Amino acid sequence: MKTTLIFCIVASISLVSFFALSSQLRWFGCPQCDRRFGHSAYQKTTDGDVGRLGYERTNISHILFGIGGSTATWSERRRYCELWWKPKVTRGFVWLDKKPAKNEKWPETSPPYQVSGDTSGFKYPSWSGSASSVRVARIVKESFELGLENVRWFVMGDDDTVFFTENLVAVLARYDHNQMYYIGGSSESVEQNMIHSYNTAFGGGGFAISYPLAAELVRVLDECIDRYYLFYGSDEKIHACISEIGVPLTKELGFHQVDIRGDPYGFLAAHPVAPLVSLHHIDFVQSLFPRMTQIESLKRLLRAYEVDPGRTLQQSICYDFSRSRSVSVAWGYSVQLYPSLVATEELEMPFQTFQTWRSWGSQPFTFNTRPMSQEPCERPVIYFLDRVQMTGINGQTLTTYERLGFQPEKDCSQSHYAPLLAIHSFNVSAFQLRPESWEKARRRQCCEVVDGTDGVESVVQVKIRECSHGETLSPASNVDTNGGAAS
Ligand SMILES: *[C@@H]1O[C@H](CO)[C@@H](O)[C@H](O)[C@H]1NC(C)=O
Ligand SMILES: *[C@@H]1O[C@H](CO)[C@@H](O)[C@H](O)[C@H]1NC(C)=O
Repeated sequence: MKTTLIFCIVASISLVSFFALSSQLRWFGCPQCDRRFGHSAYQKTTDGDVGRLGYERTNISHILFGIGGSTATWSERRRYCELWWKPKVTRGFVWLDKKPAKNEKWPETSPPYQVSGDTSGFKYPSWSGSASSVRVARIVKESFELGLENVRWFVMGDDDTVFFTENLVAVLARYDHNQMYYIGGSSESVEQNMIHSYNTAFGGGGFAISYPLAAELVRVLDECIDRYYLFYGSDEKIHACISEIGVPLTKELGFHQVDIRGDPYGFLAAHPVAPLVSLHHIDFVQSLFPRMTQIESLKRLLRAYEVDPGRTLQQSICYDFSRSRSVSVAWGYSVQLYPSLVATEELEMPFQTFQTWRSWGSQPFTFNTRPMSQEPCERPVIYFLDRVQMTGINGQTLTTYERLGFQPEKDCSQSHYAPLLAIHSFNVSAFQLRPESWEKARRRQCCEVVDGTDGVESVVQVKIRECSHGETLSPASNVDTNGGAAS
């Protein structure tokens, strides 16, 4: 009798608390939660891919972009977004602060828009002046809650971010989207990283959150954003919330916040051996190409990208031993020609043609730089991309680089520079670098200066190719062929 009574009491308490809890869950959720949140999207993914070990390669359709925009500035910012956005191919939305005016037709070349939810209930410091960082931080949650099918990655970016989507896919395809990943890049600025954390994926460079991590993040985000209301940037809030989940940032070197000022030339001409994923702060740096507007510059770079996405900006270094010259190619962008044999380690170090982001100072950056001398006889001769073409059936390309915007009065007048200055262009041939090849171990490709005849030629031929087995790029190898004990 007594045991039955105790059993009944225990049973009814459990029952009551169960209902209390479940109604509480519903209370905290939203009316459409059962439809939007998790269930539909999560289940579909679970049924399809998550349960299996193998899955099809990640492609562009698996990415849902969330672009932080605003209604007032979209007409101006859309020109950057539309450079890379491909209607019916890329999926995602620009998230606006308010609905565009009724009489304005939303451009078909822009991503479709969504209007962000109300953030007036959130805390934000009065000095920051606006709640926009809360709004932008919530884009990942609002994107998730749309419950779209077959989304593996949520990729966030700003309205002035240019994504190189083929390479973004190649980078994400290296990771298992069924696990929790937070992928992006730091700032180039030490000051910025010190303030906003080296472990933050900077939002302008863009970052990717895998589906399972997004699912975790979405549960805690609103409460978490309020906890970190003093953090200035939306990206910093996201980082703080992801660190509570315990997932670290996976850094990929092709995401570029571009926290630099001035001329980005040196930065772009010595890209790390990693696919180019994004460029940001386009309006804050000088034009990529001389004597062009920034939008013209980007279009030119994209011409090369369209022909060979995986190779865009990739550096190849070669030596012309017979003439003691060094050549550094940043494919699709620029060629540098030096009148001497310069160590590879030096050539892969960016020229510091730019200043720091916050203080416009000369240092420090999160990577090494070398000074760009003001003295013409201490600088390489620089060529910029002029033409791009496919030449063969086998995916062979020819890019031509010319001395765009050069000023003869600024040339070095010493005699050993004369033969260099007589060269007016470079013809660089290469085979397309399939973006999939970036899923393997990375190695910079080799190149060779093809024409071997002496005398003055105004066009230099360079061939980029995979390095041969055992090939290294020692500028001393012509004098050191039998020297080393190891060889
Ligand atoms: C992407 O992969 C999915 C399989 O998950 C496939 O159904 C779809 O056709 C692919 N899309 C593209 C654009 O390759
Ligand atoms: C260099 O490339 C251009 C096409 O961009 C071509 O017309 C020209 O003949 C090439 N020059 C040499 C020397 O191969």
